[in-house]
Amino acid sequence: MNIAVFVSGGGTNLQALLDAEREGFFKSHICLVLGNRPCKGLERVAGRDCAALVHGDSEDILRLLREHEIDLVVLAGYLKILPEEVLSAYEGRIINIHPSLLPKYGGRGMYGHHVHEAVFAHGEPYSGATVHRVTGEVDGGTVLLQSKVNIEKLKSPEEIADTVLVLEHQLLKTAVKYIEEERL
Ligand code: GRF
Repeated sequence: MNIAVFVSGGGTNLQALLDAEREGFFKSHICLVLGNRPCKGLERVAGRDCAALVHGDSEDILRLLREHEIDLVVLAGYLKILPEEVLSAYEGRIINIHPSLLPKYGGRGMYGHHVHEAVFAHGEPYSGATVHRVTGEVDGGTVLLQSKVNIEKLKSPEEIADTVLVLEHQLLKTAVKYIEEERL
């Protein structure tokens, strides 16, 4: 599969996918990285056979996805809502990584540190990461994979974030591999 990854920030999930491709963990090729703004994630493809740029409007996104013959769109730390035209053109072929055990701690406003602060404030014994299909409902698509961790001994939202991020990296590359093998 040809994969496009959307980023907004540091791009550590993108990096996990780039490393997985390089080590042959999956056969697919990440050939396009799009950001809604300049960010470190876009710099991670330097020296690779992969385009990286800040996207424009929905027409621009659709043109880029078609030009690169994208089969799978991966949202990895991407903080915007994809335009309806893109969601419908790639229905069933867009996945997202979310840093909680959806459906808990998902939806509008629940991203990045907000998630871990809420999990910590509620004294949850577990947290984790979820890969899900992307639909028009924020974090509402079918759950594909989840990874759960006991956080009772963790002392801050930052510790939870660091622990969950490691799970995200493992889960996202596994989801790509399973989709490639048509197991998901
Ligand atoms: C991660 O927690 C991701 O789940 C969330 O944004 C954070 C940063 O992701 N959506 P990355 O380092 O930019 O991949």
